[in-house]
Amino acid sequence: MSAASLIRRTGLLALCLLLAAFSTLAVAQAPKAPAVSSPAYEPTSGQAGKDVVWVPTPQAVVDKMLDMAKVTPRDFVIDLGSGDGRTVITAAKRGARALGIEYNPDMVELSRRNAEKEGVAGRASFIKADLFETDFSRASVITMFLLPDLNLKLRPKILALKPGTRIVSNSFNMGDWEPDQTANLSADAGCTSSYCTALFWIVPARVAGTYKIPQGELTLKQQYQFLSGTLRTDSKTLALVGEVHGTDFAFKAGGRDYRGKMNGKRLELR
Ligand SMILES: C[S@@+](CC[C@H](N)C(=O)[O-])C[C@H]1O[C@@H](n2cnc3c(N)ncnc32)[C@H](O)[C@@H]1O
Repeated sequence: MSAASLIRRTGLLALCLLLAAFSTLAVAQAPKAPAVSSPAYEPTSGQAGKDVVWVPTPQAVVDKMLDMAKVTPRDFVIDLGSGDGRTVITAAKRGARALGIEYNPDMVELSRRNAEKEGVAGRASFIKADLFETDFSRASVITMFLLPDLNLKLRPKILALKPGTRIVSNSFNMGDWEPDQTANLSADAGCTSSYCTALFWIVPARVAGTYKIPQGELTLKQQYQFLSGTLRTDSKTLALVGEVHGTDFAFKAGGRDYRGKMNGKRLELR
């Protein structure tokens, strides 16, 4: 091969390499086609839900509910019918792990996006499920904003939770199971809607029964967190009244105060 033809061939090769490099670069730098995004889902207050419509709990009431339940990073909070995720997200911002159970799949997706935006997606999760068919017994705190008849339907399951589990409901009660605390928020406190009442319960240990104690025979009758009954000593039978909060109980009999703890099925007096 002559020197001239060698130079021509080498030049051609260099040109090919240059073109190849340029096209790779062009592909790498080609602007990406815009992602096709569906229009953002916007819920409307009052929209239909499976067993109850969606109406959001005002943020001031969410805060109050979590205050009453004394939510800390050690808690696992479950919101039954979690809507746009606000209660779960607020609990996660307090360091708790929190789960929302919500039937509407669009609300579940919206909640996940909201948790992502608020930077708590690691602690706030949501499942698309029917709250009446979902096990929520792992919760240390249950929050809800449902309806009185739905609360009543849930009540047996709630009363069977671990003693000490805290329950908070926006506005609706639990029938004849009286709340341990009630808080009404005013407009000044940040609640201007019709749903400004937070109700709080602690699942009571089951203490009803008859026990031998150093003072005699103790018979406890229980109506939710309220105790009545008798303390029978050698000389007399004293009526008693008391309360049980989680596993702790206290009662008064014959002018004397007694306190104790239920340790499983064992009653321990202090
Ligand atoms: C009144 S909203 C409360 C939303 C949220 N907890 C709050 O306080 O802002 C009730 C929610 O329960 C949901 N819901 C209704 N029936 C349900 C069911 N059977 N299982 C799960 N979620 C349900 C509705 O879609 C709605 O989002």
